Amino acid sequence: MRVEGKHYHTVWLDGKNVKMINQPMLPFRFEIVTMKTHIETAEAIKEMVVRGAGAIGAAAGYGVAQAALDAPKESFKRNIGEAVEHIKNTRPTAQDLFHFTDAVSKAALGVEDVEEGRRKAVETATAMAMDQATMGEKIGEFGDELIKDGAKILTHCNAGWLAFVDWGSALAPVYKAKRNGKNVFVWVDETRPRLQGARLTAWELANEQIPHSIIVDNAAGYYMQNGEVDLCIVGADRVASNGDIANKIGTYEKAVVAKENGIPFYVAVPLSTIDLSIKSGKEIPIEERSEEEVLYARGESEKERSLIERLRIANWKSTAKNPAFDVTPAKYIAGIITSKGIIKPNKEEIAGLF
Ligand code: MRU
Repeated sequence: MRVEGKHYHTVWLDGKNVKMINQPMLPFRFEIVTMKTHIETAEAIKEMVVRGAGAIGAAAGYGVAQAALDAPKESFKRNIGEAVEHIKNTRPTAQDLFHFTDAVSKAALGVEDVEEGRRKAVETATAMAMDQATMGEKIGEFGDELIKDGAKILTHCNAGWLAFVDWGSALAPVYKAKRNGKNVFVWVDETRPRLQGARLTAWELANEQIPHSIIVDNAAGYYMQNGEVDLCIVGADRVASNGDIANKIGTYEKAVVAKENGIPFYVAVPLSTIDLSIKSGKEIPIEERSEEEVLYARGESEKERSLIERLRIANWKSTAKNPAFDVTPAKYIAGIITSKGIIKPNKEEIAGLF
């Protein structure tokens, strides 16, 4: 991702520190924050300083590497085990978090010598993160084939640069299409309650100079019904072996309305998001987040631009519910765009990827 001419990854390891773009401050301030231990990195995942399935995965992998670098020789194995448990308990839905955590801890514990274990952990976490960026670019190349010149694309939440180490999943085809000279326009669902669409996707698209409009989540059906959407592309936090997917709350509704209106609905993911251990979307754990995210809004003050304010937007006596994801059954999905090509969302084609 380029920000004011400089290339950034969303999250990276710098010595013993994990550095990341502070996503809750976007689009108002662009800042990098430093997590000095795996405990701080886990907290950053939980509090969504870093968010998006791929970026969470990479941060988790780096967190295990931090634990490997910090653990004393005598308790190396026990400390890694505890760190893995701690990191896995941050957020339940994104498969990448588990995939990265397991792979890095296996690398750390797969050798006899502790110093070698530390090296392996850092090497594996870094290689996996870089590989994810490469896979994102490949997803972009395959997805670009679906995009005609002048296409209007609808996306939900943020599955762009910021949801991965680089490139993204759902937005990677859009970025490739733009680089290949096509005119594209993106409808950006604002994505209540955390506004990943309005805050993050729109910021990315503005950086890339791609025409777009932010719409309230409830307006997507209106534009689909009126012929204003050619294609939907979303990301996913987990894909089950039958092709059901979990993605940001509201995705299911968009997929149903897209099918009703004959609009192809695609899901873009790296292979690390596919969970072959579960048969269907019914087994995907859905995160329930704090009601405060629904009852309050947060934004920059119009009067004093540097001031970030929190406002109560419902009456003080009401409570709220806040499921963060929903499951879209495979029957609503036209195809899954992966780094190995575009496949149908079924058991056979998914198994064929591995
Ligand atoms: O809660 P978040 O912001 O971590 O949710 C993740 C998402 O942004 C989406 O669900 C996204 O579409 C898939 S993540 C690549």
